[in-house]
Amino acid sequence: MVSQIRFLMCAPDHYDVDYVINPWMEGNIHKSSRDRAVEQWNKLYNVIKNHAIVDLVTPQKGWPDMVFSANAGLVLGENVVLSRFLHKERQGEEPYFQQWFENNSFKVYTLPKDLPFEGAGDALLDREGRWLWAGYGFRSELDSHPYLAKWLDIEVISLRLMDERFYHLDTCFCPLANGYLLYYPGAFDSYSNRVIEMRVTPEKRIAIAEADAVNFACNAVNIESIVIMNKASDSLKSRLAEVGFQAIETPLTEFLKAGGAAKCLTLRVTEPVREEVHATTQVESRIIRLEGHLLDAGLINRALDLIVDMGGSFQVLKFNLGEQRQSTSAAEVRVSAPSHEVMEEIISQLIDLGAVDLPQDERDAKLEPVLQAGVAPDDFYVSTIYPTEVRVNGQWLKVENQRMDGAIAISSTANGLVARCKILRDLEIGEQVVVDVQGIRTIRKTESREQRNAQEFSFMSSGVSSERRVELVVEQVAWELRKIRDAGGKVVVTAGPVVIHTGGGEHLSRLIREGYVQGLLGGNAIAVHDIEQNMMGTSLGVDMKRGVAVRGGHRHHLKVINAIRRFGSITKAVDAGVITSGVMYECVKNDVPFVLAGSIRDDGPLPDTQMNLILAQQEYAQIIQGAEMILMLSSMLHSIGVGNMTPAGVKMVCVDINPAVVTKLSDRGSIESVGVVTDVGLFLSLLIQQLDKLTSPYVANVG
Ligand code: ARG
Repeated sequence: MVSQIRFLMCAPDHYDVDYVINPWMEGNIHKSSRDRAVEQWNKLYNVIKNHAIVDLVTPQKGWPDMVFSANAGLVLGENVVLSRFLHKERQGEEPYFQQWFENNSFKVYTLPKDLPFEGAGDALLDREGRWLWAGYGFRSELDSHPYLAKWLDIEVISLRLMDERFYHLDTCFCPLANGYLLYYPGAFDSYSNRVIEMRVTPEKRIAIAEADAVNFACNAVNIESIVIMNKASDSLKSRLAEVGFQAIETPLTEFLKAGGAAKCLTLRVTEPVREEVHATTQVESRIIRLEGHLLDAGLINRALDLIVDMGGSFQVLKFNLGEQRQSTSAAEVRVSAPSHEVMEEIISQLIDLGAVDLPQDERDAKLEPVLQAGVAPDDFYVSTIYPTEVRVNGQWLKVENQRMDGAIAISSTANGLVARCKILRDLEIGEQVVVDVQGIRTIRKTESREQRNAQEFSFMSSGVSSERRVELVVEQVAWELRKIRDAGGKVVVTAGPVVIHTGGGEHLSRLIREGYVQGLLGGNAIAVHDIEQNMMGTSLGVDMKRGVAVRGGHRHHLKVINAIRRFGSITKAVDAGVITSGVMYECVKNDVPFVLAGSIRDDGPLPDTQMNLILAQQEYAQIIQGAEMILMLSSMLHSIGVGNMTPAGVKMVCVDINPAVVTKLSDRGSIESVGVVTDVGLFLSLLIQQLDKLTSPYVANVG
């Protein structure tokens, strides 16, 4: 029975693989057989003719891909949005398809120049007519989707394609009658998969495996209960049969060489309009401005990459190139995202790179009240390490207590409005919290290339060192330590027990004694092992001089804990002359404050260990206040804790034998952090040697 459904096809008179614009065409130039292609195309044509009416558009010499009439445009009712091909290799097809649509009394809409959209290859109507699924990522631009919504008056759901083998939506996605969906989930990003799953119930989703997908099983023509495709596995055929579809296979291997199959070779031109559906799209756009050494510092690449990586797309509207080395550049970029949720994620990252709104678009930050103490409104803006400002009542407020992973709370005080970074548990009822990503900017220093190069810590800009660079890092760190000490600055050390096991205890003690350290952070263990070493000569029962385990030595550390508990604190034990050397001894003797944060595995603990972790975090934060440099020595737990509390601008040196720890900490994206993968005992010993070499005291430039 032939229904009133019509398809447009284009005979393969001039079909060939002449160029490569998708991965299927690679290695296939002029490798397809015209005869076999004609035969396969005729079979498909006849199968479709058994079920529907087929119209033909005249093939044109020089346009070998014109057989893929799915890419002519997108039809809904009387309207058609003409394709704008991404590749010049296919752009010449556009006028022929346009002519055909006009001859057949369609109303033809054409997209702005430079806005690619490849028709029904990338836009598929729900077979119930409820909405339009539209793909982007390879051939069609996300910014085309709002036009589709407007011109066709339908809801557009944007899906992002991730696998270049499935460069058109119709290669991996096929809406079927009765709300079923045949698709290959692996072709989409996780956000799009979630969107699909929200629209189509599990019973209606027919997710196929890769083996079927690469046979173009999703590139199928569905006419009522039949599904025509190149090839399907037995399991797919029976899965389709279970839900009432009959799969008809017709080989299209010659067309696979060009990256197309059944669906690509057809365009359904009768698409009934459902009167009750209307235009909506979740696609959002926003123009941001970036300024600085966009090229030199790679800022523009980072910004554009992250937009795309996170599922958005962009258009660079303006780019004023700073011509001198010292002059800055400025760019205006239009950012588009498939939904507000994705837009928020993209913008919050762009804010970290220093992106701002155009002056005319500047708006106040959105605020929502804290309704429950210690709980932020859902959509709260998560703070970062970068100096931040928020706009309230038309004024930009500098955020105090900058740290990452907090919320920004606005409260009114005697001195007016105050914006502050707060951790969630400290939020109080009555405070207003910044939500969404509007009216927020970070202040980035624009350093010229020269300034950056001169900056002590830029030599590895956020890099993790390899062994041969350790000495270089040591020289730089020693120089910094010396400078900070002589200028009366503040250096904080976080240290794990490995410092003691690797023989670094004596070096760290010296750093403290010589005034290079103004605060020590760690856990119970560093103190216990340090005191054990100095009272008993072992560290966790191992003789530190000979490197062998001492009989019964594993009990040493408990004896030590017990002894200190008797005195009531480390300070009292030092005062009583029980501890006579070591890291903790030097802290007490030199009035260097320390905080020991407890954990579930602590033996004892020492009386000084703060087992209330909320208090421990507060005490850590106090010690970090005003630090210019933090030396993180082999303690993943305490170093990460400290990293989270520390604003950008504080130099951080993370030393650990485990590259993963170092990467995690130096990944803050601020140029001031440096990672060193090495043995911490060795590092400290090199550091002491280097400090010894720097005999002439640094004279600070006092202006
Ligand atoms: N060689 C063509 C191209 O890369 C194949 C088009 C396939 N068409 C489709 N609707 N998926 O453009």
